[in-house]
Amino acid sequence: MDQSSPHILTEGQKRLLAMMPELADCNFPQVRDTIPAHFYTDPARFDAEKVAVFRRKPVIACPSSLLAEPRSHYQVDITGMPVLITRTKDGTIKAFANVCRHRGMKLCVEKDPVHAGRIVCPYHAWTYDLDGKLIGLPRSEIFPGLAKLDLGLVELPCADAGGLVWVGLDPDSPPDFSTVTGELAEDFRALGMHETFVYDHATFETKANWKLIMDSMLDSYHVTRLHKDSLARFGVDSENMIDRIGPHIRNAAHRNTFQKALVNDRFEDMRQIMIFSYIGFPNGIIVVSPDYVSLGVVRPIATDRTEIDYYLLAYGKPETEKMENRLRRSFDLMRRVFAEEDYWAAEMCDQGLRSGTLKEVQLGGMEVQIRMFQDAVTTALEEAGHAA
Ligand code: FES
Ligand SMILES: [Fe+2]
Repeated sequence: MDQSSPHILTEGQKRLLAMMPELADCNFPQVRDTIPAHFYTDPARFDAEKVAVFRRKPVIACPSSLLAEPRSHYQVDITGMPVLITRTKDGTIKAFANVCRHRGMKLCVEKDPVHAGRIVCPYHAWTYDLDGKLIGLPRSEIFPGLAKLDLGLVELPCADAGGLVWVGLDPDSPPDFSTVTGELAEDFRALGMHETFVYDHATFETKANWKLIMDSMLDSYHVTRLHKDSLARFGVDSENMIDRIGPHIRNAAHRNTFQKALVNDRFEDMRQIMIFSYIGFPNGIIVVSPDYVSLGVVRPIATDRTEIDYYLLAYGKPETEKMENRLRRSFDLMRRVFAEEDYWAAEMCDQGLRSGTLKEVQLGGMEVQIRMFQDAVTTALEEAGHAA
């Protein structure tokens, strides 16, 4: 990130900041609310969410900077759809079904991004370029009349916005990308997200419903409790300022250095005294730290199984050993906190809820974002004609 040209916060970010009280004046909202327990455990609801949310809305596949170089590609499965993201020769991001047009094999299977201008199917070596064109197949004479032009990869609608790659998982029905290319992307640009690079990333496999994973980031109540031996020393109970950008959630929380007198509109200053975080609906978790941005990409697998890709996005390659050590320590800490604390708690909740003991879970004033997120899921289900 270029320190000489400060990043100016957006009107929406400034509005939330202006509403933040001094730490000593925080008033925690008093709220009683409940969520039906079966929202987390019902396989029929999970199937409906897969269609209504993950097939009809733009979903996050990865940060754009994962494909930093032209002529590179990356594959990831999102709710049963194998997705191939490419950065073409001219630097454009494209998305395709990662499915070979010959016999349907998953074309690319590498876990990490690959730097190569073409993709060769491991089965019979049909070869595609990064624009999805079928450019070669062995012994093509055995397929009389085959027109290579007709057998390119199936393209998925996608948008490269605010440093994130959003895709539509239904090739026949593009979702409304205006919900992710407007104000949300402007906010992310103000945070310099489009200028970050992937310092490191890790994938977690959890035995928990995907919304329990989202809840772990939507709950400011647990931070100084579940994380008492890890993150609590960096955190304080904060009266979060929260608003919505369409189905997405924007949140401003205090660091213990927060003072109203220090508030200004420069992101470089504000990230030292407060924390912006976002839920990029439906599957992105973005938390801004002083030196980096944490991005979680949540990928539901089954009612009780979820994978999460965690990315530490840094502002420029670490130039000093001190900065390198700091980022490495942060990455190791976050990896441990997620695996041993947040995702562990989500798995234990999954087991508790799956026992059928509770009809509903209780929410208080520091968990209002869980309600906001559940409402966005319910709205998507209703839009798709599912009874919520
Ligand atoms: S399935 Fe891909 S080349 Fe045969
Ligand atoms: Fe947490």
